[in-house]
Amino acid sequence: MTLLDFLPSLHRAATPRIDPAIWPSTTTVDELGRLCIGDVPLTDIADEFRTPAYVLDETDFRHRIRGYHSALKNVEIMYAAKALLTTDVARWASEEGAGLDVSSSGELAIALAADVDPARIVLHGNAKPTDELHYATSIGVGRIVVDSCMEIAYLACEVRKPQRVLIRVTPDIDIHGHAAVTTGVNDQKFGFTLADGHAADAAKRILHQPLLDLVGLHCHIGSQVTDPTLYGESIRRLIAAMADIRARHGVILHELNIGGGHGVPYVSSDPELNLAELGEIIEDSLDWACAAERFPRPRVVVEPGRAISARAGVTLYRVASVKSQPGGRTFVAVDGGMSDNPRVALYDAKYTVALANRHELGPTQIVTVAGRHCESGDEIARDVELPADVHPGDLLAVACTGAYQHSMASNYNMVTRPPIIAVRHGRTRELVRRETTADLLARDLGASRIAVGGHH
Ligand SMILES: Cc1ncc(COP(=O)(O)O)c(C=O)c1O
Repeated sequence: MTLLDFLPSLHRAATPRIDPAIWPSTTTVDELGRLCIGDVPLTDIADEFRTPAYVLDETDFRHRIRGYHSALKNVEIMYAAKALLTTDVARWASEEGAGLDVSSSGELAIALAADVDPARIVLHGNAKPTDELHYATSIGVGRIVVDSCMEIAYLACEVRKPQRVLIRVTPDIDIHGHAAVTTGVNDQKFGFTLADGHAADAAKRILHQPLLDLVGLHCHIGSQVTDPTLYGESIRRLIAAMADIRARHGVILHELNIGGGHGVPYVSSDPELNLAELGEIIEDSLDWACAAERFPRPRVVVEPGRAISARAGVTLYRVASVKSQPGGRTFVAVDGGMSDNPRVALYDAKYTVALANRHELGPTQIVTVAGRHCESGDEIARDVELPADVHPGDLLAVACTGAYQHSMASNYNMVTRPPIIAVRHGRTRELVRRETTADLLARDLGASRIAVGGHH
């Protein structure tokens, strides 16, 4: 029996506010007030693997893909590897029936190392290097999403056997989101515009190449999209474009890839894309557009990244110092920052933070959780409520950090990158080890010259 068993009201007060819309689906709080994910107390992970550390809930990740399969019945799911990729993550995705969207030779190599079927991989990129195209075609990648006329020319020289390709088009749809992730409008670097017949011209160039097999169109309108009707509009515009290509060139394209960008909540008041509504809108707009154009129903593909991996991830930090600036804010500084989470500096992203090692009893205060890097903009979260007695040594958990954190991490200030620790059914597994200073020195060739021959 603990004190909390005698005092249920104390238990309520002691339970951190864990919003299930934001934290991994297996998150619980044990009787000591410790946050647990996958039945593993986060304090155990911090003790064993040190901090900062990325924790990944395998159950949550798999559960998100299953959610896609049940909400989007006739739609193929390609997990967008740019959100988070390790060989284990690639394997989980393919075991759950998802293909993989990759955007570099590195992502492709990891997918292949995980034994993902190359036929179920789509390669993206607005400036794919020629050696990347060579690698992708030689291993038989399932689809290449063509992004420029130059790429069509490169591919035509490169391929030795038939290669399926899609054309990336911009449907001129504005998601009214952050400029860095608004990719569906005409004035940005990706794809061919539907306007002025650019996409139809790209189709003509591809159709002239006997080994390039044009199977469909692709678009990606942006990230953090929460209005499903924008995808319905994309479908209508792309089916019209397919009908135009049929009229001009006499070919029927069978594949319609509407990209990813499905929005997830980072803080409790954030909206999220409702998958059931998305499923209905995809069906309705396909019915409508195909009937209007008398066009056969294509195979529909989606490429969610964030919506699969973001909520599976939590980042652990140790509090290093607490400082109240006179007339200013209180800063709780931690042992990581913009090198493991660049999204705050890049997109002004908001995050949810909780104390992970003990009960949040007593009065609270509003603080800024700051990183350890040499910039005043190096913040993890502003205006978060933490106990007034938060102190060095406390463990903080930041929710919804499974997407675009590890994959965008850097070595700013020569800080080494954190490990990724997977949790499931009470067990931990280290997917990616912590980077070491020796790793940094190994890439610095001057350092090895000094070690061998001294200074020159
Ligand atoms: C072509 C393409 N597909 C899919 C995605 C995944 O986006 P999200 O992780 O927001 O779902 C991106 C993201 O940049 C992308 O560029």
